[in-house]
Amino acid sequence: MSRSAHPAGPRHADVLPEGHYTAPATDLNVLDEKVWSRTVTRDANGALTVGGIEVARLAEEFGTPAYFLDESDFRARCRAWADAFGPGADVFYAGKAFLSRAVVRWLQEEGLNLDVCSGGELATALDAGMPAERIAFHGNNKTVAEIERAVEAGVGRIVLDSFQEIARVAHIAQSRGLRQRVQIRVTVGVEAHTHEFIATAHEDQKFGIALAGGQAAEAVRRALTLDGLELIGIHSHIGSQIFDMAGFEVSARRVVQLLAEVRDEHGVELPEIDLGGGLGIAYTSEDDPREPHEIAKALSDIVTRECESANLSTPRISVEPGRAIVGPTAFTLYEVGTIKPLEGLRTYVSVDGGMSDNIRTALYDAEYSVALVSRSSDAEPMLVRVVGKHCESGDIVVKDAFLPADLAPGDLIAVPATGAYCRSMASNYNHALRPPVVAVRDGEARVIVRRETEEDLLRLDVG
Ligand code: LLP
Repeated sequence: MSRSAHPAGPRHADVLPEGHYTAPATDLNVLDEKVWSRTVTRDANGALTVGGIEVARLAEEFGTPAYFLDESDFRARCRAWADAFGPGADVFYAGKAFLSRAVVRWLQEEGLNLDVCSGGELATALDAGMPAERIAFHGNNKTVAEIERAVEAGVGRIVLDSFQEIARVAHIAQSRGLRQRVQIRVTVGVEAHTHEFIATAHEDQKFGIALAGGQAAEAVRRALTLDGLELIGIHSHIGSQIFDMAGFEVSARRVVQLLAEVRDEHGVELPEIDLGGGLGIAYTSEDDPREPHEIAKALSDIVTRECESANLSTPRISVEPGRAIVGPTAFTLYEVGTIKPLEGLRTYVSVDGGMSDNIRTALYDAEYSVALVSRSSDAEPMLVRVVGKHCESGDIVVKDAFLPADLAPGDLIAVPATGAYCRSMASNYNHALRPPVVAVRDGEARVIVRRETEEDLLRLDVG
């Protein structure tokens, strides 16, 4: 998933499983600020603190495994995105990365909008008081009930994803005497440089309406004729965990071309374009993500340039970062349970969570980092695989990493950059209880999503 290369070049002859692994040149006690949230540091005793609170205290109070979310980092990232794009553009946080009522309130306070993609996300947003006009509703197969709820709530935009949906939304809005603001999601034929399963803008996939073959132009034609719809723009999302801006450039260029065609055919200049989310973050020290201001500049330059050459007025730009806002703000804290050195291979370190709280390693071959956080250590690095407690050999949290050789059961280890798509994709596999999300800020920690209990599990089991 991430671009991290395996450490290369043989050194530890006794721990060379498949190819070549070199112990990191850096001290294992040093926390790379690229992968840890802003308020994370080590105290005088070598223990990790976040928001001024030591992890041992957090573990004692909230248990493990648990996600700890650095609230001031989350808010700072929201502000960085909002400031980078300025008042002439809109930032929609993609709620699928992680959503809770507290997050919705933070977004409101920091001036962001919200992208939701299901009835459940919409319900959470509305329940936490997000003004409906600041919500965008996505999805390739929204149900009629979901569309009705969104239209009645007055969401700011529905992103239309198929010809059927154009008709459905138009009918639902019109029958209520309303005109729903909509964008059309197009596929621009760009395949972002990322894992195949989460690249979404090449043609052979379920999202959007293809520019190729004039399909998107036909969708615009239909949307413009329907009374229940106010077509405000075109949307394109090209993939996930992207570092290279080239894909966005091609996408922006093709969307602007469509705007020019629409102007030529219908005499209408659509006022908005949305370039989606997908910006990469650092999961390991090898990853070098771009800052929001660089991204904002790159996107607005290309849109402005293309519009000038097509003689169009520049549309209002919006973006939908999820991972880039919440991903770096949280880490997962685990307690080490068992340790199995496999002679000539590597050491398996089992923790009290696993694929139920982080499916990304198993699903996408995602790379993560890990650190011993309850103390520092001067022991030699040992090559480890951090695994969970589930009944499946693919239950891997961190595939290849180094931890100090004196690691012992009861030590706390933490995996950084788990704020996005970990709690939101967590499962009850093996009847695991999904971990809590604890927000930490200025010396205070509070649960924003509580740990599941056995009663929660049994409540659903009504047989
Ligand atoms: N907008 C749209 C229309 C999207 O489909 C997505 C993500 C986003 C925005 C936010 O993308 P982000 O900035 O968070 O990359 N489960 C996968 C990621 C799937 C993303 C799906 N759509 C993972 O764990 O990597």
